[in-house]
This record gives sequence, structure tokens and C-alpha cells, in this order.
Amino acid sequence: MIRVGVVGATGYAGAELVRILQGHPEAELSVITSRQYAGTAFSDIYPALYGIADMLCESFRTEDICEKADIIFTALPHKLPMEIVPELLKKGKRVVDLSADFRFRDVKRYESAYQPHCAKELSEKAAYGLSEIYREEIQSADIIGNPGCYPTSVLLPLIPLIRENLIDTETIICDSKSGVSGAGRSPSVTSLYSEVAESFKPYKVAAHRHNPEMDEVLSRESGKEVSITFVPHLLPMSRGMLTTGYANLARTAKEAEIRECLQHFYQGRQFVRILPEGKIPNTLHVRSSNFCDIGCKIHGKRLILVSAIDNLVKGAAGQAVQNMNIMCGLDESSGLDWVPCPL
Ligand SMILES: NC(=O)c1ccc[n+]([C@@H]2O[C@H](COP(=O)([O-])OP(=O)(O)OC[C@H]3O[C@@H](n4cnc5c(N)ncnc54)[C@H](OP(=O)(O)O)[C@@H]3O)[C@@H](O)[C@H]2O)c1
Repeated sequence: MIRVGVVGATGYAGAELVRILQGHPEAELSVITSRQYAGTAFSDIYPALYGIADMLCESFRTEDICEKADIIFTALPHKLPMEIVPELLKKGKRVVDLSADFRFRDVKRYESAYQPHCAKELSEKAAYGLSEIYREEIQSADIIGNPGCYPTSVLLPLIPLIRENLIDTETIICDSKSGVSGAGRSPSVTSLYSEVAESFKPYKVAAHRHNPEMDEVLSRESGKEVSITFVPHLLPMSRGMLTTGYANLARTAKEAEIRECLQHFYQGRQFVRILPEGKIPNTLHVRSSNFCDIGCKIHGKRLILVSAIDNLVKGAAGQAVQNMNIMCGLDESSGLDWVPCPL
């Protein structure tokens, strides 16, 4: 059994990690931490896990967590992980960080979107945890920068097509919609029911912090600087994320060729489902699962790509566990192979 710890276990991403890990056949959840709820049973905070995850939350102490866990998930707001992860690595632990702190290879890009980085050397060593794309790097890394939810939904459909030079990277526009849990559990006016229900709005138009993360990966993939137009929207639902991407075709291609390219690329990768002709992804069809569904349509010279994920699963905790499985040489789907709820 792999002994696993979750730091920040009572936030939305951390709680989703607890939900997944308590049922993982090869992992034992041995320690969970929280500042506010230290000494409280996890199931008192999330009663859905009553009788399933009754363990007590602990205050975070490096020594304690290192004694109890071999793999540590950090599900904290950005800036905190870069302060604690170096010590965890020094003590021989392997870390999957869900924040933005280790997602960037170009530290200057991180710093212009977030804040000064205090563990730059680790950023260079970290693997970007987009599981289906960077499996080899993830296998041998001690620190994983788990991708953001928007980048996961944007990059999975685009990368195979960029590698085959099928799209003009200067013309990419992505329009994404997220459920409110994407903003985390900390109270804020913009997440109040009366602000979100009966409402649908874009926010941080062409100014979201996930934009530079996507640009960095797409630039690496295409071998030249890429800067996409990205507009996120807030949906009046708790979980789920849908991205509609638009790009000009780099040459004449039929829809079947695009679908075939995606199908070929993701062959044997069970969490990415390329939908058949005429079918378009829907957040409901991936809810609570680690799937990313992708559909496509050509309109004139323009390719339209649609992807749907659950922001808390493939967009956060599910992909983090998938990365742990890859790091530990386990079956990639271990602990993740449940089917989505049909309704
Ligand atoms: N929500 C998503 O859909 C999603 C998707 C992908 C990635 N992520 C990333 O995952 C990380 C966690 O996100 P989340 O949505 O789970 O956030 P969240 O619900 O706000 O949870 C963050 C947790 O961190 C703990 N924490 C410890 N020190 C803290 C501090 N100084 N300030 C604030 N919180 C502190 C808090 O628990 P205590 O106060 O009890 O310690 C809190 O529950 C973030 O880096 C986020 O970007 C989230």
C-alpha cells in the first residue's frame, strides 16, 4: 500500500482527493491536514463521507506528514506550496501539487501572472501533470505541477492537432465555462447563490491567470510563441467545465481526419473519449468522473473543438491521482475507474 497524505484536505479539491483516495485499492490515506478543522473528523465537515472517511484532520507539520506519508498531495492556494514543498522533497517525499506553483517551466511567466517564486530550481525540475501528454516525464518526477482545470480542458483537444500541424496556432480562441466550485470553498460575494443562480457571465476576459499556463504549453508543443485568446465564464452549477475552441485549419482537412487524428492519439488512454460524428460533449456526461469528452465540427476553414470535464476530477483531484498512479507504476486508472452518473 502507498501511504498518502493530503494537505489542504477540506478545500474542494482536497475533499475530492479524500473521496477518491478512500476507495483507491493501492493507496492508504494516512494523513489529512487543515488549519481551520484540525481535530475535527473529515466526515463532520463533509457528511457524505460519514462512515467512510471519519479520520481526524491534523495541523500541518512537515515532520508528522513525512513520517506518515510517502506521496503527498498539496491542495492549497498558490504561493503556499512553494514554501512547503522543498522541505517535503528534501525528506525524500514525492509531491503532486494542485496549485499553479510548479506548473510553469518559465519562472518569469509564472511571476508575471502570480508573484515572485521562492523555489525556482524546483520549478525547472517539475513535470507538468497533463497525464495523457507527459506520461514519461511524470513517471520519473518527484514533483508534479498538476494542470489547472481550464488548461486541461483547452490543451487535451489542441495538442494532438498541433503535433500533426493541422491547425494554425495564431488563430486559436477558447471560450470556457466553469461551475462555481472552480473558485474554491472560501466564502466570497461572487460565489453567493444569489449572485450566481439565474446568471451567466464572462469574467477576467482575456486576463485569466490560466492563459499564460496554456500559452507556455502550446508554445512548447508548437516550437514557437503561441498566445491564445481565452475567455472564461461562470455557470450557475456547482461542478463541470465546458470549453469551445476555435482555430483555422492549417490545410484542407475533413472532419473525419480530425477525429481520426484525435482517436489515434488517445488510443488506449481510457479517460479521453473522442465522440463519434454528430455528438457534442456535455458536462452532465462526465460529471464526477475522470473523463474528458471531446467532439469536433468543421465550419468552412474553421475547426470547432468542444471538450467537457469535471473541474474537480479530471480538472484537479482525479488527474492528480492519475499522476500518482503513473509515478508509482500502477495501472493509470486505479481508483478512478468508476463510470459517470447518467443523470
Ligand atoms: N477548485 C477547482 O476546481 C480546482 C481545479 C484545479 C486546481 N485547483 C487548485 O487546487 C488548489 C485548492 O483549490 P480549492 O478549490 O480546493 O480551494 P479551497 O476550496 O479554497 O481550499 C483551499 C484549502 O487550503 C487550506 N489553506 C491552508 N492555508 C491556507 C491559507 N493561508 N489561505 C487559504 N487557504 C488555506 C484551506 O483549508 P484550511 O483553512 O482549513 O487550512 C482551504 O480549505 C488551488 O491551488 C487551486 O488553484 C482547484
